[in-house]
Amino acid sequence: MCGIIGIVGTQPVSARLIESLKRLEYRGYDSAGVAAVVNGPDGGPNGGKVERRRAQGKIKNLEALLAEQPLGGQNGIGHVRWATHGAPNLKNAHPQTAGRVTLVHNGIIENFAELKAELIAAGRTFESDTDTEVIAQLIDAELATGLAPLDAFKTTLDRLTGAYALAVLIEGADNLILGARRGSPLVVGEGQGEMFLGSDALAVGPFTNRVIYLEEGDYVALDHDSARIFDASGAPVTRPVKLVATSAVMMEKGNYRHFMEKEIHDQPDGCQRTIAAYVDALTARAAMPEGLDLANLERIQIVACGTSYIAGVVGKYLIEQLADLPVDVEIASEFRYRQPALRPGSLVIAMSQSGETADTLAALRYCKAKGMKSAVVVNATESTMAREVDVVLPIHCGVEIGVASTKAFTAQVSVMIALAVAAAKARGTIDDAEEQRLVRVMLEAPRLIAEAIGLEDAIKEIAVEVSKARDVLYLGRGPMSALALEGALKLKEISYIHAEGYAAGELKHGPIALVDDQTPIVILAPFDSWFEKSASNMSEVMARGGQVIFITDTEGAKHAPEGAKVVITAPACDPLISALVMSAPIQLLAYHVAVLKGADVDQPRNLAKSVTVE
Ligand code: AGP
Repeated sequence: MCGIIGIVGTQPVSARLIESLKRLEYRGYDSAGVAAVVNGPDGGPNGGKVERRRAQGKIKNLEALLAEQPLGGQNGIGHVRWATHGAPNLKNAHPQTAGRVTLVHNGIIENFAELKAELIAAGRTFESDTDTEVIAQLIDAELATGLAPLDAFKTTLDRLTGAYALAVLIEGADNLILGARRGSPLVVGEGQGEMFLGSDALAVGPFTNRVIYLEEGDYVALDHDSARIFDASGAPVTRPVKLVATSAVMMEKGNYRHFMEKEIHDQPDGCQRTIAAYVDALTARAAMPEGLDLANLERIQIVACGTSYIAGVVGKYLIEQLADLPVDVEIASEFRYRQPALRPGSLVIAMSQSGETADTLAALRYCKAKGMKSAVVVNATESTMAREVDVVLPIHCGVEIGVASTKAFTAQVSVMIALAVAAAKARGTIDDAEEQRLVRVMLEAPRLIAEAIGLEDAIKEIAVEVSKARDVLYLGRGPMSALALEGALKLKEISYIHAEGYAAGELKHGPIALVDDQTPIVILAPFDSWFEKSASNMSEVMARGGQVIFITDTEGAKHAPEGAKVVITAPACDPLISALVMSAPIQLLAYHVAVLKGADVDQPRNLAKSVTVE
């Protein structure tokens, strides 16, 4: 939700903080701020004052402020904010300060109101509406009792309920940054005579590839030469140093205008990598990681949010059809609170690009507490979810920066496809020959996705019409009913046009009342077993003046009813991979509509890439 960075360095820190925050801007951009230990009145490093600079909105606004009011010093912290407590204004921007303490925070402190009341009763005054300021006030109050910084920090942490990743500067302790994590990710970066703290490996990537992933409850004291790590009980611990390739190339847009555009075009490669991880191309066999007893599973429970939930719905169709294995897919934020009836013989699969989504994590933990075996389909393989499950199913699509998920979606679907084939083979619902056929179908997907992306010019044309719409309906059947949800979500979240995805068979039960000659209707209908039904839905809509954008394949185009406003013809493919091939047209449609509307494609308003709060 927010991004944080801390540097105990040997070089001017201001520009380094900004460089890191730019890598974290996908986590939130309501405001940005930095603070540093600047050389004190005696010019020496000791007793340095802490100064901060904060700006509303994007990092470029903070850069403009720093150009006018440069920030000195080598040790500092930084923050990009997605507002939870307190409006996205300047006083609520991080870093937050109280007395000697200046800090940045990602997460939500649930007991902040009672702590704030206690501190006010003790005579302390607050400047912001944030929960974060309460943490700074508490640490400062503990320092005032004479506690050393690390003790004051630990005493404060023990009083907090909720989620936090913190980076803390304390005036007078200039060669020190304190950090802690509970419920929000935090890593330590090991440099040469420098130490770094960041929300993820990307944040510290410009400075080091030696990364320590702090565990739940860990807190840390960084100075130039050491990272002293303690577990929640206060005992010193050692965590492994990992070498992480967060090469700069992953961060560049190349010759694309937006990360989202690049990531859409990256999908053939991305899915190639994903599929290669789950099949043996030589023997044409599916290959799942150890630990998934697919033969004896009674049921799969998928929990997820947003686009990841939709990928799960696609998985349900394929796994039930191929493997005759019951699959339930639920929105995590509903699932976690409804006391679902669970049985230990089931497998819970969390679907999450970030591996940090709070609702999905909570739903996963709920299932684990009920004795279920757990897995996660995830991009961030060092994330909290990845570290808590029995089996990790990486999607291998590389870093996804665009807030609207594209390549991660098709990578997740690719894992679902592989799981469906592997489960079918393990349960004997397909034989060797069928498994080999289906694996070969999977290996065709990258090429066919690339062909579908080749429809971009035709999609750009129809985007002009769609960009004028007030409402858009997406319809589909079978796995395409899930893609209808995804197409609508993509359009909504980056172009701000209202859109709804519906199972096409549901149209006549209400939504058909929406149909008029002003409402574009996107119908997703590859030439599969649902095609005839979708084609008749198309006729129903056109009979009422609906303007149909018919997205089908080369076979379907031959059988499509006359009268569509436009027919987009994707390459024909086996139903097993149609969700992969049909994704690109709906992603490109949303992208080009958003570009036409001048929207902020990579960082849509009100959104964040990783929703680590409820
Ligand atoms: C996708 O385009 C959205 N940005 C959002 O729905 C996202 O899929 C959702 O927040 C889940 O994120 P996760 O995959 O990291 O758990």
